[in-house]
Amino acid sequence: MVVAESLEQARDAARHVRIEYERYEAVLDFGRVKDASYAPEKVKTDPPDSLRGNLEMGLRDAAATVDVLYTTPTEHHNPMEPHATIAAWDGDRLTLYDSTQYVTGVRTAVSKTLGIAPEQVHVICPYVGGGFGCKGSTWSHVVLAAMAARRAGCPVKLVLDRPQMFGPVGARPQTEHRMVAAADAGGRLNALRHDVAAVTSFIEDWIEPSALMTRMLYDCPNLETRHRLSRLNIGTPTFMRAPGEATGSFALESALDELACALEMDPIELRLRNYAEQDPEKGTPWSSKSLRECYRQGAERFGWQRRTPRPGSMREGGKLVGLGMATATYPANRSQASAMARLLPDGTALVRSGTQDLGTGTYTVMTQVAADTLGLPLEKVRFELGDSSFPGAPVSGGSQSVASVAPAVRAAADALRKKLIEMAVGDPASPLHQAGIEDVRIEDGWLRRQSEPARREALTALLARHGGQPVEATMQSRPGDEKTAYSHHSFGAVFAEVHVDPDLGEIRVARIVGSYGVGRLLNRKTGRSQLMGGIVWGVGLALLEKTDYDLRDGRAVNANLSEYHVPVNADIGEIDVIVVDEDDPRINPLGAKGIGEIGITGVGAAIANAVYHATGKRIRDLPITLDKLLD
Ligand code: MOS
Repeated sequence: MVVAESLEQARDAARHVRIEYERYEAVLDFGRVKDASYAPEKVKTDPPDSLRGNLEMGLRDAAATVDVLYTTPTEHHNPMEPHATIAAWDGDRLTLYDSTQYVTGVRTAVSKTLGIAPEQVHVICPYVGGGFGCKGSTWSHVVLAAMAARRAGCPVKLVLDRPQMFGPVGARPQTEHRMVAAADAGGRLNALRHDVAAVTSFIEDWIEPSALMTRMLYDCPNLETRHRLSRLNIGTPTFMRAPGEATGSFALESALDELACALEMDPIELRLRNYAEQDPEKGTPWSSKSLRECYRQGAERFGWQRRTPRPGSMREGGKLVGLGMATATYPANRSQASAMARLLPDGTALVRSGTQDLGTGTYTVMTQVAADTLGLPLEKVRFELGDSSFPGAPVSGGSQSVASVAPAVRAAADALRKKLIEMAVGDPASPLHQAGIEDVRIEDGWLRRQSEPARREALTALLARHGGQPVEATMQSRPGDEKTAYSHHSFGAVFAEVHVDPDLGEIRVARIVGSYGVGRLLNRKTGRSQLMGGIVWGVGLALLEKTDYDLRDGRAVNANLSEYHVPVNADIGEIDVIVVDEDDPRINPLGAKGIGEIGITGVGAAIANAVYHATGKRIRDLPITLDKLLD
């Protein structure tokens, strides 16, 4: 890192830095090191391998068996806003303005690395221009900015440029999936095997947990899964939108489609015949599951019944038309979180939690929850986030912010509401004096006795009589026994229509319908946008995205947005998002499951299956580019 007074000076100086390296043979080719694979210690919190029943038994007497290999390339996060940090020291106290999905995580990592107390580090991040997992951990540039600022004796700003986003700041690793699936003539899955091999660095084991969903999605008595790693001289991979499920669902849901073809069975019918009524791996009931309804509503909206099964049998305007579908799923996570709610003398409320808004609507949804609980109009509530000095909240990853933080906001707002009511009821000067606690409501900024609505007073009047001081409450919220008593997942169904040029192999995704059961959706507009964003990325995963490495030096050769392709408007046809009615009283008091990641799951397979239906060509290697179709 070179520090200067202007960006131009710094860039120029950096060009004059000469570094001498001792050269060793680099290990860069996954294809050549696969034999050196080993099992990671854990896959998230689960063991890397799993076994239920007896796979060999399950494979016997199968009416159809699929035994194939699916592969996915390295992909890089490309949020519009790259990684960026400003570091400023005031004596021995450090302030970091950082673009991050986890303000308290940055505080912990930086204080540990620099050997200072967490209280000496203050992390501020009011807005994030996209994260998708790459801003979930603290990478070296944050610590470098802090070190440079200390050395330079002034604040230092460090912004990664686009090519540097392809450097050692995380990526979705290259993966390989061997899938074995066998069913009887009635479409009952008797055997399922999913072996995942992925790359990691020599520094750290990071595994794409792709087979976890295979363990829970279908009711198959004989099932074996395995995760293996191979080390390469690359940066450590990391979370990237639906890490595991994005690639795992491509493999599993493609294999199911291949099995349906072999059985000459409708792909939805095959999935319904193996519908898991409870979590087949844990043996626990689902907290809620509306997958049948997702298949039904999605198929109806999409017009699945007009599909003729034979590949290549549908055409439109000289193009081959393909219709494909897949199941979507992602865990419904929830962690401990805290929030503070404060009523100010002017009758407005300030609510705070150390969570983040990745552009997904955290501000909006938390304001809604607080206003609703406090009995205040939306415009009288200010919600603040993105500050490590606020009550703690988890990483905005794993689709858990709403499910974790909204209950904390609600608990804090509710505690504040009760405090205010108690103040009024105990105050001889209040028209609500000696009213029953349950009889008093706060509505539109007024305390009101329900049984006698004429007896009311404004919150501002109550506070004015109490010395004009703010009143506040801080609460923590965390999951309880329901976390182990039930299995918490979101489910959905994705339907894709592709049009393939028979001469050029060009693939256009004309339509996608995604239907999801995600508990109670707290905001239709931001929720729909987020699910749609996931689907758009699924199109990228299916057809466009791939980081190409130079096997001589391990550098990405397409480290820019003109050669690393992400979907643009012209790549996206019609997208229709359905959120089915689902109530989940067991996930949290609000009944809301997260929606950040499920949108990308299943999309890769739905498109691959549609491409097969259009062309009769089964492409098992992502992305599906036209050269693979013309082969
Ligand atoms: Mo998400 S990949 O857990 O930020």
